[in-house]
Amino acid sequence: KTVVQRLWHGDASVAMLIPRLQKSMRNWVSLNKHHVAYRGRRGQAQDARGVLCELKERARLKTLDGTEQPFSGLGWDKLVPVLTLEHLSGQGSKFKSCAVVASAGAMLHSSLGNEIDSHEAVLRFNSAPTEGYENDVGNKTTIRIINSQIPALPRYHFNTSSLYQGISLVAWDPAPYSVDLPRWYRNPDYDLFTPYKERRRLHPNQPFYILHPKFIWQLWDVIQGNFLESIQPNPPSSGFIGILLMMSLCEEVHVYEYIPSLRQTDLCHYHERYYDAACTLGAYHPLLYEKLLVQKMNTGSLNDLKTKGKITLPGFSSFDC
Ligand code: C5P
Repeated sequence: KTVVQRLWHGDASVAMLIPRLQKSMRNWVSLNKHHVAYRGRRGQAQDARGVLCELKERARLKTLDGTEQPFSGLGWDKLVPVLTLEHLSGQGSKFKSCAVVASAGAMLHSSLGNEIDSHEAVLRFNSAPTEGYENDVGNKTTIRIINSQIPALPRYHFNTSSLYQGISLVAWDPAPYSVDLPRWYRNPDYDLFTPYKERRRLHPNQPFYILHPKFIWQLWDVIQGNFLESIQPNPPSSGFIGILLMMSLCEEVHVYEYIPSLRQTDLCHYHERYYDAACTLGAYHPLLYEKLLVQKMNTGSLNDLKTKGKITLPGFSSFDC
């Protein structure tokens, strides 16, 4: 059986990855770029309910609100949107049903476009386009999660591209594990702070948030806590962050081609001719572990997973712990 077939049944392991990916993972563990010092539990993954409740309890959605240094001293309390990210679905209510569209090559020839657009809200990632791919990925975008390379690197044309207009934006950047905000502000992976300030000035009505690094590392802690071995000490992928964001905003979340269907391919993105198994199974990001955890929470059918690459998850408001 292949790694992906094992993933469908929740029994994939790092030992099944090609040697190049295993080596890359080990290198990230020894480099420990973000100075991770994890002191929590490590154990076999809990059952679905255990994982859901741990995430609901510990992975509290949080964005920069300008009340902490250095942001408070820089007037960011007036820079961030007045309404919080949770308000996007309407005051006190949630989106009924949401789609999260992974950018994987396996989206190609899926014909999932209509199904994706039928959800009340659709989350997409980074520079993943809809134009020209409507039949497979749909054309509705409600929120886009972007890593800090998108606003920082000229090649993404953040200020002029239509990909980032008329929707809500949520940006993130890997801060140190200690969540030292002044140090992060001085030395982000890519400078997202300058373009953020500029865009808030130019488009004050566009909902645009920066995720709090505490949220990102709490997600990482939950992933690590459910495995015995050391996972890559790097932030979870945008995919995992986006899934957890939508579990806070939606009553039900449908995730497409995050865990690959039968269309599984080494094609990294549906919109680029670049092949690398690391995009699906991880090198920098602890992707395989993220996916094992998400598989565990799936309430959808095995058939939907195989044919659509679809995982169904309850929103946090839909269950009690
Ligand atoms: O590559 P990028 O981060 O923009 O893709 C968005 C997300 O989609 C990733 O963070 C990852 O979670 C998911 N993805 C995947 N398999 C791929 C490509 C992307 O699971 N081949």
